[in-house]
Amino acid sequence: MLTENKKVILLLLLFVALIGVISCSKEDPPVEKSELQKRIDEYNQSDKGLKDYYTPDEYFYMGVAIPSSFVDNTAKVNLMKRHFNSITAENDMKWSSLQPVEGTFNYVNADKIVSFAEANEMKIRGHCLCWHNQVPSWVFRDGDATASKELVLQRLRTHITTVMTHFKGKVYAWDVVNEAIDDGSSVYRSSQWYNICGEDFILEAFRAAREADPDAKLFYNDYTAIDATKSTKIYNLLVKLKAEDLVDGIGLQGHWTVSYPADNLITNAFNKYVSLGIELQITELDVSVYTSGSEAEKDYTTAVAQQQTAAYERYFLAFRNFKENVTGVTFWGVADDHTWLDNFPVAGRKNYPLLFDENLNPKQAYFEIIDF
Ligand code: XIL
Repeated sequence: MLTENKKVILLLLLFVALIGVISCSKEDPPVEKSELQKRIDEYNQSDKGLKDYYTPDEYFYMGVAIPSSFVDNTAKVNLMKRHFNSITAENDMKWSSLQPVEGTFNYVNADKIVSFAEANEMKIRGHCLCWHNQVPSWVFRDGDATASKELVLQRLRTHITTVMTHFKGKVYAWDVVNEAIDDGSSVYRSSQWYNICGEDFILEAFRAAREADPDAKLFYNDYTAIDATKSTKIYNLLVKLKAEDLVDGIGLQGHWTVSYPADNLITNAFNKYVSLGIELQITELDVSVYTSGSEAEKDYTTAVAQQQTAAYERYFLAFRNFKENVTGVTFWGVADDHTWLDNFPVAGRKNYPLLFDENLNPKQAYFEIIDF
């Protein structure tokens, strides 16, 4: 049993606590909104997007790579319509998607993306006609034996002619050959294409492409295309292609990181390509928060966001500096909720490489690159 005194003290304490709670909730200043949240609020009041800051006339087309399912996703569609005027199929125009079985072409998903782009007045980049990945094994087989060079080249020509004819007048630019240059000491990647055909497969691919649609812009596309050694090899290949008027541009994939590449790598390589009188397009931009495959998974902290914002700022400054030659910048994904980097180079390691977060809100990096 409590004594009377204790009861009084307890009641008093309760009273004081109650007053405290009431006065506290009255006097508490409203929670200060972060700078980022303020900008997101402003962003939500406006309808300007990337393509309004980077107009094609003054700068370049702003593109994005998507799976066909995004066309049915209202939130994604709204974001795409606001920011982008160019579309790439992330997978649906690759060989294994379009011609999984010899002579059987399947355009369902690719056409879905094309219709979406046309309905929204977006340009369409074709990706890609000839690559060592996502190509069916039948292309290199003849029964139980390895196919001859003649047979492989004939299949290559048939694929390119059929596909480009199907998309004629719709796809304005094609990545004709993707990733044919070696990362090591060889000139060319030791792919089945190269091992069977030598470098002729590259020239033949571009010849077939030029013939199939003379109005399409033809690109050679590769990653680490700003690397000093690799860019020299790519440059030499472009010279050969230029000699036959087979190439219109270099696609630099742009799978970069928060620290790579340094500005001088970008400037030197861009100047090298510019000297050829061809267009430059960044075709697959994303900025990994990891600098190597051995780095452990991490959260998207403020420090990481700042690093990434600084990297995006550097990259877009370079693109603007070369605006006479850079004709397109395409992101490899819409937002951080869907990125191939979650599974490359490490399966299941979450990455945050794009300008929009997992809820499709703009990140600090977005505000940085539109502020120039
Ligand atoms: C990637 C896609 O994003 C993935 O969905 C797919 O599983 C593998 O290919 N270079 C390229 C792109 O040229 O086609 C690749 O796309 C990423 C690397």
